[in-house]
Amino acid sequence: MASIQRTGPFKGRTIGVVNDLSLDEQRYLYQKAKELKTLAKSGGDTRPFRIEDRDYQVYLIFMEDSTRTKESFRNASKFLGCRTNVFDTATSSFNKNESITDTIKMLYGYASDSCFILRTKLEGVCRWLQIALSAYAEATGKPNPGFINAGDGKHEHPTQEFLDEFSFLEHLNWNMNDIHIALTGDLYHGRTVHSKADGLKIFRNVKVDLVAPELLAMPPSYVARMKDNGFEVQIYESLDEYLASGKVAPIWYFTRLQLERMGESVLEKADVLRKSVTFRKDMLGLLPEGTRFYHPLPRDRINPTNPTFLDNLPLNGWDAQSENGYWTRIIEIGMVSGLLGQDFEGELGRPEELPEDFIKETTPAEHKKPEYKVGIKPVEEGIVIDHIAVGKPIEEIWSNIEAIRKILKLNVRSSQGVYHSLRGEGEFKGIISLPDIISFGQKDLKKLAAIAPGCTLNLIRNSSVARKYRLSMPPRIYGFDEISCKNENCISNPKHNEGVVTEFVRKTGSTFVCKYCEREHPFREIWDI
Ligand code: CP
Repeated sequence: MASIQRTGPFKGRTIGVVNDLSLDEQRYLYQKAKELKTLAKSGGDTRPFRIEDRDYQVYLIFMEDSTRTKESFRNASKFLGCRTNVFDTATSSFNKNESITDTIKMLYGYASDSCFILRTKLEGVCRWLQIALSAYAEATGKPNPGFINAGDGKHEHPTQEFLDEFSFLEHLNWNMNDIHIALTGDLYHGRTVHSKADGLKIFRNVKVDLVAPELLAMPPSYVARMKDNGFEVQIYESLDEYLASGKVAPIWYFTRLQLERMGESVLEKADVLRKSVTFRKDMLGLLPEGTRFYHPLPRDRINPTNPTFLDNLPLNGWDAQSENGYWTRIIEIGMVSGLLGQDFEGELGRPEELPEDFIKETTPAEHKKPEYKVGIKPVEEGIVIDHIAVGKPIEEIWSNIEAIRKILKLNVRSSQGVYHSLRGEGEFKGIISLPDIISFGQKDLKKLAAIAPGCTLNLIRNSSVARKYRLSMPPRIYGFDEISCKNENCISNPKHNEGVVTEFVRKTGSTFVCKYCEREHPFREIWDI
């Protein structure tokens, strides 16, 4: 299987979330899509945008329904001249409990180079496949496949985001200075609006008005992310309240109510909820001059939030928007195939390097005289874990002691307790003394840092502290059997049995996010105890 050399800098990349492309890379995508669209519409030569290699396979794997995303990718792949395969999920061995990981490995073997485009109910699938298949690629000596997320549960829909931003830029004459946009509809379940928390960063100044009743409101983590990204955010509960504010945006982004993702209790209220985000004729006069409406589509045939009386008005931006899915997706496949990018000048998106300095060894000379005991007997040889949950309420200290013992399986002769801390009046800490343990490996040290950040570990030799380590909250917690993502729709959740290596990345303070679905977890929640 001979293949044309495609060596662009984005070759084999995964686009699982918007942030997988740096801002420079996103701008490159929009620039290339603009060039291609202009060339194609004016009858120009589009050959530099074509792969023309039947050994480059593009596999469309849609485990959830789709029209636009699937068909625009299918047409994009055909334009590019690739081997275009549409996987039939309804009749596949998924129905015999086969894993996604096994399926993709098998399909990867059918060509010299591949790109997989996946829509799944499960969240974080592309991130996991990127990891699993890069190990497989190395073993087989073939290039890493590209993965493109075509919508994963209620997590993200990055390629929809790129076509949305492309459409806004077209409308704004490519001015990236300012955008004022209203997001309305089902902001809770709608992944396209979640992706806006990062996608809108290509504009320097961003004002976002979130218009949705409380039950469909944007999840707080995405609101926080918008604010962290410097967006000015206003919140309204209905279109009536929003229009009465007199501070109405000239760009509106509608979404349908995602009935298929709602629980029973929200579903029962769907009619009332929909009313508060459905546009009416009497609202037309309240819009700023030149307002444009967008919608990722599909629009609900019976109860559209942007009703059909709007279709032939200049407000309609969604028809042109849906066509843009074709142009932007040609460029996305072109980028991950390695065809495009030779002319890219900018910052490449790279995984963030995380510091590994959460274990610090201190000078043992300062600690020659240990006060540690087992019962009333001083520890002569062994290990003492000190400063456990220092300063925390007493119940929390005991619970931390219990967690350390359980997770590190410290079922040995020992003593433990809660004691006054020298930090101040009324402050306590936990101590576990373990005279029968004489060594503590690096993995255990990392585990201890992850269970009890802030504690110290003392290695006692000849009644003296031979080594002392201060442990702080690690930037990542991964690979332990006792941790799991609590989002049942995450690919890494144990109930899906995909063999995913669980990993959490520290966000701020003691909040961690799952590497795959990005669900936030308070520190204690990641542990299965
Ligand atoms: N916008 C969008 O994702 O549409 P489809 O569900 O039809 O792919």
